[in-house]
Amino acid sequence: YLTKVSTVNNSTKLHMYTSFMMVSHSNSHCCRSEDLHIFVGLKADLRNKLFGQHIASDIIFKAVSGFMKDNNPKKPLVLSLHGTAGTGKNFVSQLIADNVYKKGYHSKFVHVLSAILHFPHQSEIVTYKSQLQEWIKNRVKNCERSIFIFDEMDRIPPGLIDSIKPYLDYGKVEGVFFQKSIIIFLSNTGADQITKTAVDFWKNGKDREEMMLKDFESFLSPIVFNSDQSGFSKSTFLYSCLVDVFIPFLPLEYKHVVQCAMAAMRDEGLRPDEDVANQVARGLHYYPKLEKVFAVIGCKTVVNRVHLYR
Ligand SMILES: Nc1ncnc2c1ncn2[C@@H]1O[C@H](COP(=O)(O)OP(=O)(O)O)[C@@H](O)[C@H]1O
Ligand SMILES: [Mg+2]
Repeated sequence: YLTKVSTVNNSTKLHMYTSFMMVSHSNSHCCRSEDLHIFVGLKADLRNKLFGQHIASDIIFKAVSGFMKDNNPKKPLVLSLHGTAGTGKNFVSQLIADNVYKKGYHSKFVHVLSAILHFPHQSEIVTYKSQLQEWIKNRVKNCERSIFIFDEMDRIPPGLIDSIKPYLDYGKVEGVFFQKSIIIFLSNTGADQITKTAVDFWKNGKDREEMMLKDFESFLSPIVFNSDQSGFSKSTFLYSCLVDVFIPFLPLEYKHVVQCAMAAMRDEGLRPDEDVANQVARGLHYYPKLEKVFAVIGCKTVVNRVHLYR
């Protein structure tokens, strides 16, 4: 679509809108039960594939499986995932989608919206608002079990999410039932404080696993709401508590990078080689400067860097 559209329109802005709207009309199938997974594999996936995220693992499993088991939820499930780059926020969204749909992340009922790609111009907020509203409504009309992933929430023009507030707030709006959808916001908002908390735990000689949701909740949601870059405008989103849970993604350590590298080799059908995995992990940068405990960009580049050492 992107190439086709861009030859028609010279304006980049128009190109962005058009591609966004084109995608929105391109899939007009209804999701049937045969498209859906029997929801059983998430726990094992989180345990075996997501490394170093004991809080996210636990909370996401409880929230998503509880939601999927409820045949008549009152409102959509709204999760907000926070953390530095490469800690697994997009990855876990894929795991969720993989366990809801047989076609997983690539199912036509899973919609990923990127701030940079779909909402690049602050000045176009009014247009974006009405487009997003229409678009989401149509997607959910097609499939009430839709999943929406808003990536780079911190770059989404403030106020945009207000336009879909009614959908997140209530079950039914204008004859469309929203309460079975899952909305996942991804952002770096609050990442500095998450990092600080993890570093403090480490410096105090405490176990990583001793960190609990409550150590983050206290600052995570107020920060989201108070930050001008968070994409949630203060005005309406602020007090309404639409987000069911704010989930911290912890900075990853050397051993997690090794795990990521081993998994990357396995995924490619290669024999996992611990020497290679250690070389990959040693090749990354770590902080704090002196202690070098946490990988600066987590597992982000691991998949590609595995090839450098084989
Ligand atoms: N905690 C993790 N456990 C397992 N793999 C991870 C983890 N974090 C990152 N990865 C790997 O690194 C890749 C990039 O991570 P990603 O989920 O895009 O990070 P984020 O969205 O937090 O910036 C993923 O596709 C996955 O292969
Ligand atoms: Mg990401």
